[in-house]
Amino acid sequence: MLVGERFFIIYNIIIISKNATGEALIDTVNQVRIFTYQNPGKPRGKMSAIINGIDNDGVKSGEGNGGNGEASGLNVTTMANEVSTLSMKMAMNKIESGADIKEDNANGKDDEITTESFHDMGKLTLESIPKRYKLYELLVKDHPTSKGKNASTSERLAKNDQRSTLVYGEISFNSFAVAMEKVINKYGGLQESGGIFYDIGSGTGKPALAAALLHDFDEVIGIEILDGLYRISLEIQGVWEKKIVPLLSDKKAQTKIKFTRGDATLIDWSDATCVFANSTCFDDALMKSLAKKADECKVGTFCITFTRKLPSEKWEVLEHESHPMSWGHATVFIHRKSS
Ligand SMILES: C[S@@+](CC[C@H](N)C(=O)[O-])C[C@H]1O[C@@H](n2cnc3c(N)ncnc32)[C@H](O)[C@@H]1O
Repeated sequence: MLVGERFFIIYNIIIISKNATGEALIDTVNQVRIFTYQNPGKPRGKMSAIINGIDNDGVKSGEGNGGNGEASGLNVTTMANEVSTLSMKMAMNKIESGADIKEDNANGKDDEITTESFHDMGKLTLESIPKRYKLYELLVKDHPTSKGKNASTSERLAKNDQRSTLVYGEISFNSFAVAMEKVINKYGGLQESGGIFYDIGSGTGKPALAAALLHDFDEVIGIEILDGLYRISLEIQGVWEKKIVPLLSDKKAQTKIKFTRGDATLIDWSDATCVFANSTCFDDALMKSLAKKADECKVGTFCITFTRKLPSEKWEVLEHESHPMSWGHATVFIHRKSS
């Protein structure tokens, strides 16, 4: 298909695979490959630069499983096709089975990091994301995605727990940072320092600690149902305290970090200012229970989810856009509580 300067090829792929517990999954993925005629004079958008240029903890645009192809620095967020929830689950299952996906190859070097001052990071802007990412790299360098994936898989196998809602995957820092930047600069959230951030299903705790690097929250809290993942989040919290806190401003260093082991549908998180759920593998029942809990939050609270929106009329969807994650692309929903 030829549209203006762009050339589209649309095709379907049928994928048959097994998940971590040996269950066969069959899926079709709609692929849209986009090519643009070279136009060297055309400046790349800020978002495109952020996603394509610096995001090396996941999959580069156009490279991921089930991802959307992109050539010539086109902004994937405007051109991306929706990939089904099942496709996302399969991509995550692919991570779980160790198949061809790049790890978050964080490679922060302590000596490079300590010479730089991180005291003046100020309000989150797109330009400040690479600097914050350096700290994130240092934080997670000894805890690649495979650690969380292995802990999750072995615990579920040991417990013979086959719930697909427990399939593991991790955020891409930069895509998460871009969503947080929009909450602040596009939608007017988090204008003052402070507030409470919750990660619902916090895995090894990376989004909660990323949130602490992106905004001066009073508190960041992760709630995770699996014990092994919860324990790893405590390990990473130890790295945060030892290596990251000494590099931060006094205000940022004071952010309370809390990880809780438990079922997020049974725990009170109504005091949230901003909620995050990497919900790609959450099913309808879990989304409904979470929406019921989310309905207890204050009007004006923000909520970011992946692939699935909150099934509640009390939350307005401000936008939904596709972004690269560690397993491919996911649609990122930004909601605000309206009533
Ligand atoms: C896709 S992982 C996301 C991990 C982390 N938030 C991230 O983005 O890097 C989803 C997590 O939710 C957890 N989970 C699923 N159901 C849950 C529940 N009811 N309560 C708490 N955690 C849950 C899973 O064990 C899994 O670790």
